[in-house]
Amino acid sequence: MDTKILPITSENIKLCADAIKNGELVAFPTETVYGLGANALDETAASKIYAAKGRPSDNPLIVHVASINGVSAVVEKIPPLALKLAAAFMPGPLTLVMKKKPCVPSAVTGGLDTVAVRIPKSSAALSLIKASGVPICAPSANLSGRPSPTTARHVYNDLYGKIPYILDGGSCKIGIESTVLDLTSDKPRILRPGGLPPEKLREVAGELETAKEDGVALCPGMKYKHYAPKAEVLFSAYYDSMSQSICDWYDKLSQSGKKPVIMCLSGNAEKYGDRATLKVGKTYDDYAHNLFADLRLADDRCYNVVIAEGVEDGGIGSSLINRLIKSSGGRII
Ligand code: TXA
Ligand code: MG
Repeated sequence: MDTKILPITSENIKLCADAIKNGELVAFPTETVYGLGANALDETAASKIYAAKGRPSDNPLIVHVASINGVSAVVEKIPPLALKLAAAFMPGPLTLVMKKKPCVPSAVTGGLDTVAVRIPKSSAALSLIKASGVPICAPSANLSGRPSPTTARHVYNDLYGKIPYILDGGSCKIGIESTVLDLTSDKPRILRPGGLPPEKLREVAGELETAKEDGVALCPGMKYKHYAPKAEVLFSAYYDSMSQSICDWYDKLSQSGKKPVIMCLSGNAEKYGDRATLKVGKTYDDYAHNLFADLRLADDRCYNVVIAEGVEDGGIGSSLINRLIKSSGGRII
C-alpha cells in the first residue's frame, strides 16, 4: 500500500473522512501527538489499528469526539464531574475514562466495560471527526514501543506501507500525550500524567489519586515498553547533582567506544563543555514539545546512548519525568 502525506485542505479532510467511514485507517494531527484513527464503532476497522502498530490487543484506545454530545454517544452516563472538567479543559489534552455504552466494541476498549474519551483541540482533528460523522478511536500513530510521533514524517517513518493517508498538520503543539483521568473509581485517579498538569486538574476536580504502577494494569498501556528510540536512554533523575554525574557517564561511555549525546535545556548546555548535546529548548514546555522528536533525531544522527537531563517535579515536569523514566526503561543515573 502506498502511504500519502496530505496537507490540510477541505478536499483532503473529506478524502480522509470517507476513508474512515469505509473502515480504513488515517493518521491525523492533534495538539498532543499524531493519532492513528479508525471508526470507533467499527470493530474490524479498530482491529486494523492493532495490526498496523503491532500493539497488544489488551491495550485500549482513546475515542476522539468533537463535542460533549459526542461524549454522550459513547458513554453510558456522564458524571457531573466530567461535565465540570469538560467545561474547563475540553477541547484539550485531557482524556476521561467512564462507563462505556454497548455500541463501543470491545476491540476499542481492550475488553473493558469503560471507555477513554477526549475532545482534541487541533482544528484538523475536529474537522476530521465532524466530517466522518463517527467517533474516531486513535492511539498514538507510532509503531508500538517507539517514541510517539509529533510530525507527519515520524508517522511516515513508522507506518509507511501500512496506512493509506497521513494528514500533515505540522509539529504538534504540546508534544506529549493527554492526561488520562479515571472517573470510575471513588476518587478521580490520574492513570497517565500528560499534557494537562495535575495542579490545573486539581483546581477543578479537587483531590486526586495517582495510580501507582505496581504491576496492576489500571491504564493497560502503561505496562508495556514505551517511547524507546534505538539508542539506549539513561535518565538523570537527581536534579541537584545532575550535571556532574551526566559528565562522568558521558566520559565513561565515550571511553568505552559508545557515541553518547546529552539531551538538555539550552541554558544548561555550557555545563557540558564540548560534549555532544541535543538542546530541547529553553523551558520545560519546550522539552515536552521536543522530547519525542529529539529521541528520534538521536537515532538519525547515529548516537547510541542518550543521557537525558531530569527536570523538577510539578506542572508539565511531572509528565516529562514519567515519559523519561519510561523511555529509559528505568535506567536512572
Ligand atoms: O494525547 C493522546 O492521548 C494521544 C492522541 C492521539 O489523542 N493518544 C494516545 O493514545 O496517547 P495511546 O493509545 O498511545 O494511549 C492511550 C492510553 C493507554 O495507556 C491506554 O491503556 C489508556 O490510555 N486507556 C485507554 N482506554 C482506557 C480505559 N478504558 N481504561 C484505562 N485506560 C485506558
Ligand atoms: Mg501511545
